[in-house]
Amino acid sequence: MKNIFRFLFLSTIMSIVLCGCMPNNGNDSTSNNYTVSKYDKQIRELMSKMTIEEKIGQLNMVGGDWDVTGPYIRADFKDDIKAGKIGAMLNCYTVDYTTELINLSVDSSRLGIPLLLGYDVIHGHRTIFPIPLAEACTWDLDLMEKSARIAAIEASAEGLHWTFAPMVDICRDPRWGRVMEGAGEDPWYGSLIAKAKVKGFQGNDLSDDNTILACVKHVAAYGAAEAGRDYNTVNLSLRSLYETYLPPYHAAVEAGVGSAMTAFNEINGIPCTANKWLWEDLFRKQWGFNGFVLTDYTATNEMIKHGVAANLYQASVLAVVAGVDMDMVGQGFLKHLNRAVENGDVSENQVDKAVYRILKAKYELGLFDDSYKYCDKEREKSEIMTPEHILFSREVARKSMVLLKNKNQLLPFSKEIKSIAVIGPLADNKFDMIGGWSAAGDRNTKPVTLLEGVKNKLGDHATVLYALGTKFNTTSTAGFSEAIRVAEQADVVLLALGESNDMSAEAKSRSVIDLPGNQNLLADEIIKANKNTAVILMNGRPLTIQHLDDVAPAILETWFAGTEAGNAIADVVFGDYNPAGKLTMSFPRNVGQIPIYYNHKNTGRPYNPDDSWTSHYIDVDNSPLYPFGYGLSYTDFVYSELKLDKKEITENQTLNVSVIVTNTGNYDGGEVVQLYIHDLVGSVTRPVKELAGFEKIFLKKGESVTVNFTIGVDDLAFYRKDMSFGTEPGEYDIYIGGNSDAKNSIRFLLN
Ligand code: NOJ
Repeated sequence: MKNIFRFLFLSTIMSIVLCGCMPNNGNDSTSNNYTVSKYDKQIRELMSKMTIEEKIGQLNMVGGDWDVTGPYIRADFKDDIKAGKIGAMLNCYTVDYTTELINLSVDSSRLGIPLLLGYDVIHGHRTIFPIPLAEACTWDLDLMEKSARIAAIEASAEGLHWTFAPMVDICRDPRWGRVMEGAGEDPWYGSLIAKAKVKGFQGNDLSDDNTILACVKHVAAYGAAEAGRDYNTVNLSLRSLYETYLPPYHAAVEAGVGSAMTAFNEINGIPCTANKWLWEDLFRKQWGFNGFVLTDYTATNEMIKHGVAANLYQASVLAVVAGVDMDMVGQGFLKHLNRAVENGDVSENQVDKAVYRILKAKYELGLFDDSYKYCDKEREKSEIMTPEHILFSREVARKSMVLLKNKNQLLPFSKEIKSIAVIGPLADNKFDMIGGWSAAGDRNTKPVTLLEGVKNKLGDHATVLYALGTKFNTTSTAGFSEAIRVAEQADVVLLALGESNDMSAEAKSRSVIDLPGNQNLLADEIIKANKNTAVILMNGRPLTIQHLDDVAPAILETWFAGTEAGNAIADVVFGDYNPAGKLTMSFPRNVGQIPIYYNHKNTGRPYNPDDSWTSHYIDVDNSPLYPFGYGLSYTDFVYSELKLDKKEITENQTLNVSVIVTNTGNYDGGEVVQLYIHDLVGSVTRPVKELAGFEKIFLKKGESVTVNFTIGVDDLAFYRKDMSFGTEPGEYDIYIGGNSDAKNSIRFLLN
C-alpha cells in the first residue's frame, strides 16, 4: 500500500515563489554539509591535492563516439582526459574501449582519477527487454527489478559504471514520444517501479563488479510538456507537481539512487538546471538525496535559449549555484567555472561540494580500488546475452503483452492449423521491432521477428506464409494484393501493425497517433480476406486505434517487446502463455481527448447524458478506448463479495478489504486485482479514483481465491488545503476490479 512520501510545505511554497535564479555573490546559502561518505578521509585527501582546474574537470562530462544521443559537440577528449579536464563520459562501452579510456585517466593524468562511464541502458544493454512502458504492464515488481539487474550485469561486463535510468516521468499525453521510457500515468505505481529499478541497477552493494550507478530522470515533470511536444514548456500547479509528478523521483531517492538528471524543461519559469529550490531544498534538504546531480545533454547551454542566461558563463553559474554537480556535454563548466570562482560568482566551496559528490560515487563504485574492475574480458564473453538472460527477456515480453480485444475467443490459435499468414510492416522486421533506446542491442541481427517466432513455434506442422503488405509511411497499396492473396490462402492471419522504431523515444513526438501510413486500409483488406485475423500491435505509445477496434476481431498489444519478441508473441498467440498484462496508460479514442487519465477530478459538472450542460464532447465519448489497468485474458474473472472488516476506522487503525475472485472461463490464467480509492469530500478536490493497491494472482480454471488488502492512513493521506500532507475525516469509496473502470464499490468512514 501507499508509502508516505511527504513533508510540510509552507516553507517550500515560499521558496518556490522566492527562489532566485541569477548568479549570486558566491556565498552559499545552500546546505553546506557534504553528506559525509565512509570514504570521507580519502576524498578529502585527494581533493586537497587537486587544483581548481582539476576539480572543475571532474564536473565535466563529454560524449564518446560509440553512440550519439543528442546534438553532437565534439570534445578532443583523449587529450582532455590526460589533462584532467574530464570526470565522466557517456556513450562508450566494450572492454577494449573502456580500458583504453580508463587507462588514459588513470595512467596519464596527474592524479590518476578514474573516469566514470555512463550510458542510456534503458531496457537492457545487449539483451533487450520490452520497453519500460510495456514492462510496467506486467505489474510485476520483482520481474522489473530483475531485468534491471540483468541490464546492469551486461552493461558492467562491457565497462560501464552508470546508467541514465530509471526514467520515471509521469505522463498523461501519448503524443510525447518518451512515454515509451516510463511507467505510464500513475504516480503511485510509477513510484514502486522507480524503487524496483534503482534496486535492480544498484544491487545491494555498488562496489560489486556487476552493479552500476542509477540515475533518476528527468527531474522534474519533464513528462508534462505542453501538447506532448518534446522539450516544450511545462506549466503546472504546485499541487499537480506534488501530487502527480514528484512521487516517483522521491521514491527513487528513498531507494538510494546515486545520481539524478535535470530535466530540460522549466518549472514555474525556472529551468530545472537552474532550479535551486528543486536541488538544494527539495532533493537534498527535504528528501536527503545523497548522490550527485548532472544536467541533461547540453541543458546548461540551453538556458541561454530559455532566456534566463545571456551567455554560457551565466548559464554555468546558474547551474552550479542551483546545486548541479556535473555538466553533460555542453562544456560550460569546463570553460567558465574557473573564472566564475575568481569573480566570486561561484564559491570554491560550491565547486568542492560537487567534486566531493562525484568522487564519492567513484569511491563507492570501487573505482579507486581497482579502476579496471569493470573491464573484464572474461565477463564480457560469458555474461552477455546468456541463454538465461535471453530466456528471461522472453518471459518479460510475454508478461508485458496486453490483450485488447478478442471477439469470439479468436485467440489463442490452435497449433493444429494447417496454414498461417504473417503479414505487415512489422511481421519480419528486426530493425524496427526492438524500439527506441535499445542501447547496445544489435537491432540488425538479434531480435526474433514475429515470422521467425511463428516458424519456431509451428516447425513443419503448418505452412507459414508471409507478405509485407505495406510500409510505415506510404500511401502506396502496391503490396496489398500479395498480402490479400496470402491471407485468403491461410487458415488464420497475424497482421503485425504499428510504429517504426524512430516514431517514439526522445524528440519523437507525434501530433497524430493513429497507425501511420495506410495500415488501417491494409487491416480492412486483410480482415475482409480472412475473418480469422488477429492484429499484433508493436508501438511505443498508446495509439488512437478506434478504427481497428471497430473492425478487427482480435488485437494483442505487444509494444516493442525486445530481443525475444517473436518467440514471446508466438507463446501468447498459440496459447502457451495466457496474457495477463494490464495497461498503465489510457488509450484515447482520438487525439482531442488528450490529456486523458483515469485519476482525473470530478469537476462541478461531471458528465450526465441527460443534461447537455455537463462536461463532455459533442463528437466523442469522455471515456478512453481502453482505460488504465485494462487487459483481457483468454479466461474470465468474476469479482464478488467485496467486504470490509469494519465500516469505520480512526487514523490509528487499518481496514481490511476483501474480495473473491473466480476464474469462470476455460483457461488457467493470471489477473491483476486492482484497488482504487475515492475520497468523497475533501478540503480540496480529489481524483475520482486513485490506485492504492494491487495483487497479481494466478487461478486455475474454476478456482476462486479471496484477495485481501489492508488500507491504512498512508493510503488516505493527501496534500490538504494548506499543502500539509495528512488525512481528513470523512467517507471514502473503495473500488476493486480488473481495471480502473471498476464499478464494484464499498464505503467506509474515517473518523
Ligand atoms: C538526452 C536525454 O534526455 C537523456 O534522457 C539521456 O540520458 C541523455 N540525452 C544522454 O543520452
